[in-house]
Amino acid sequence: MSTDRLVIFDTTLRDGEQSPGASMTKAEKIRIAKMLEKMRVDVIEAGFAIASQGDFESVKAVAEAVKDSTVCSLARAADADIDRAGEALAPAAAGRIHTFIATSPIHMKYKLQMQPDQVIERAVRSVKRARNLVADVEFSLEDASRSEHEFMCRIIEAVIDAGASTINLPDTVGYGEPLEYGLMFSRLIAAVPNADKAIFSTHCHNDLGLAVANSLSAVRHGARQVECTINGLGERAGNASLEEIVMAMRTRKDVLNLDTRIDATHIVPTSRLVASVTGFPVQPNKAIVGANAFAHESGIHQDGVLKHRETYEIMRAEDVGWHSNKLVLGKHSGRAAVKSRFEELGISFETQEVFNEAFVRFKTLADKKHEIFDEDLQALVSDVRESLSSHQFQFETLEVLCKTGQVPNAKVSVTVDGELKHAEAEGSGAVDATFKAIEKIACSDTELQLYSVNAITQGTEAQGEVTVRLSKQGLIVNGTGADTDIVIASAKAYIDALNLLAEDKHKEHPQREGV
Ligand code: KIV
Ligand code: ZN
Repeated sequence: MSTDRLVIFDTTLRDGEQSPGASMTKAEKIRIAKMLEKMRVDVIEAGFAIASQGDFESVKAVAEAVKDSTVCSLARAADADIDRAGEALAPAAAGRIHTFIATSPIHMKYKLQMQPDQVIERAVRSVKRARNLVADVEFSLEDASRSEHEFMCRIIEAVIDAGASTINLPDTVGYGEPLEYGLMFSRLIAAVPNADKAIFSTHCHNDLGLAVANSLSAVRHGARQVECTINGLGERAGNASLEEIVMAMRTRKDVLNLDTRIDATHIVPTSRLVASVTGFPVQPNKAIVGANAFAHESGIHQDGVLKHRETYEIMRAEDVGWHSNKLVLGKHSGRAAVKSRFEELGISFETQEVFNEAFVRFKTLADKKHEIFDEDLQALVSDVRESLSSHQFQFETLEVLCKTGQVPNAKVSVTVDGELKHAEAEGSGAVDATFKAIEKIACSDTELQLYSVNAITQGTEAQGEVTVRLSKQGLIVNGTGADTDIVIASAKAYIDALNLLAEDKHKEHPQREGV
């Protein structure tokens, strides 16, 4: 087998965001997209443009911001979806429309209520329409792993003739078994007469924990694009994880024999960013990006690694970006050093005013916390952007009284639409009292679905990063806040969530609709 290239298609911002509770704001999507571009991901699926006004704007903003990766929008096989995707992608240097329709008997009969010939007709019409808007069109056969071979041959041949240059065969429900799923690729590639005019792509869900194994099997059987997400984020049990695919391709090049163009040193910082934005922490034993992924605890392993690293290590932690948490800056660092470190982290500032504010906050943080790490800078910049944009609720001050034997009490001040308001409440703990006091002001009628605290770095000086997930009438948002004081971080996160709820709009789900 000769060396060839594997296209890495990241769908963290689309399929990853479909994970319940993982919603991201436009600004967060742009930050993640910029990191993915820096990592040299080939295709970034930025969203599902027709799902909501917010999704449309996010796809458009990513299309404007990203220049070195193709930017993609999902679209069902329907005229309105395709036109909306085309509109959102108009500013892209390289744009792709990814259109799909279900092809399995069960989906065609019960979900679409369409005959197979109607499905082919719709697919061809959609691909042609998309080709009139962009040069690069991907077509997915939703639920391919439960579809019939003969039918797939017909529809694939027809959509390639209509102009699709990527054919994606998703294991939508995570039902595939590695050999069977891989053979589906080699059989289809051999049977479809014009298969050589398209790249075949794999897209696996992890319901049986087989998403990465299935993806690699597809690659061994002819797939040349893998669709995956950072941290394996995605609906239900998630999607195939980008970091595992990329590192498996690299570490087992002896058998897989394909290159990607990924710069793996950005993997860990990107994983952290996605975890903090979504509030889905990475489990410690997660491959590649888990805190313990490279920690050798047993004496025998440590001894072996010290004598000769490769006795127990198949990859180097620094190759996937684990050293980004080294001490980088302190309170004596100047503006140029701070700015250049931000730039290395892929963070650029829209205006001088934003950087000035970031620098002031850096100095304040450096006074409280002597060592500033990359993760601190990332959290700080989110805070700055929040404080400079105008929102309905603005956190001002917090005073908390916690004493053994007494009921905790919180006094909070929040500006609401420009008017300063104060409230006081008691609670079972400092955070509970704080949230109750904020609620006395906001009266939001929301339900708290998740509260989580993560130390951004190590030690008791570390900033705590809090995620608060609120829901209201089916809408779910994740607010985040960071501070060296976790009660203040909690108040900021709660207020961030209230603002997101006030600003967000209804969103459609691509696979729940009749088309
Ligand atoms: O899992 C799936 O089938 C999808 C398609 C829309 C590609 O996400
Ligand atoms: Zn999917």
